[in-house]
Amino acid sequence: MNQSMWHTGGPNAAHIQELAVFFGLLLGTIFVIVVAVALLSIRRRHRGIEQEPLEGSHQPSAGTEHRLRTTVGIASGVTVVILFGLTILSVSVGKAVSASVAPAGNLSVEVTGAQWWWKVRYLNDDPSRVLLTANEIHIPAGRPIAIRGLADDVIHSFWVPGLQGKRDLIPGRITLEWLQADRPGEYRGQCAEFCGLQHAHMAFWIVSESPDQFNKWMDNQLQPSIEPVDDDTKRGQSIFLKSGCVLCHSIRGTDASAQIGPDLTHFGSRKTIAAGTLPNTKGNLAGWIADPQNIKPGTHMATVPIQPAEMQPLIDYLESLK
Ligand code: CUA
Repeated sequence: MNQSMWHTGGPNAAHIQELAVFFGLLLGTIFVIVVAVALLSIRRRHRGIEQEPLEGSHQPSAGTEHRLRTTVGIASGVTVVILFGLTILSVSVGKAVSASVAPAGNLSVEVTGAQWWWKVRYLNDDPSRVLLTANEIHIPAGRPIAIRGLADDVIHSFWVPGLQGKRDLIPGRITLEWLQADRPGEYRGQCAEFCGLQHAHMAFWIVSESPDQFNKWMDNQLQPSIEPVDDDTKRGQSIFLKSGCVLCHSIRGTDASAQIGPDLTHFGSRKTIAAGTLPNTKGNLAGWIADPQNIKPGTHMATVPIQPAEMQPLIDYLESLK
């Protein structure tokens, strides 16, 4: 699992990492110097007292006073210059990584934070190529991706430590940024703003692929859901369509078209369920459907009454949606 700002996979995260290393080294050095000087002066003072105990008010000589003033003056000047330098550096890196317009030739993805999952929409001038999915963002490696951030309910924060810096998503506002993964790989992201009970279980994945693989993924995702072929999955589909699931979820190619919860058209192709909470396996899915509150207390996923005999066909069907 790659979720660390020290394992950078793209230019924005690299800038942030360089800044952090520079701040750390410079401020660490200053800390060491200050502590060393303080210890040295304590030692000298101690020796001075031993040699010549203070009697009443002991005024420093005019020479010492002058030296002290000059030293404090220079130290204050250097401090101001360093702070100014750090501020300028920090602001310029902030500007570079949060440029609202990505470099040319970008792919545009709209990410909406909701309690507690991520709605993902690939934007395109051609409406037939607009894709709706959830909690997993595939991108082509080596290309800047424009991210258009929104929030449905409360403030969330979009953060992929390996690729970019935190960006708050605020209801009623559009947040623009961009990110890029230099090589194929998987990067875990996490909501970075406390947004309620399940804030910690609001994760997602960025899957960076070669352009060919990405195009293949996109073409497959744009297809309607695959039709069930055997009796088991056929039964699963009819159980799904007759259940309360359809009040929140959509599966393109069927009558399920609600958009309150994640789109499930290609659910079986995703790595995780419940916004990165569990690996996407049949066992986990059965547990999640049977008792969502047990896995994610407070989740808005409803507990839909499913008969024990109906569970297997239902999860077989959902997992077949590759
Ligand atoms: Cu969404 Cu924290």
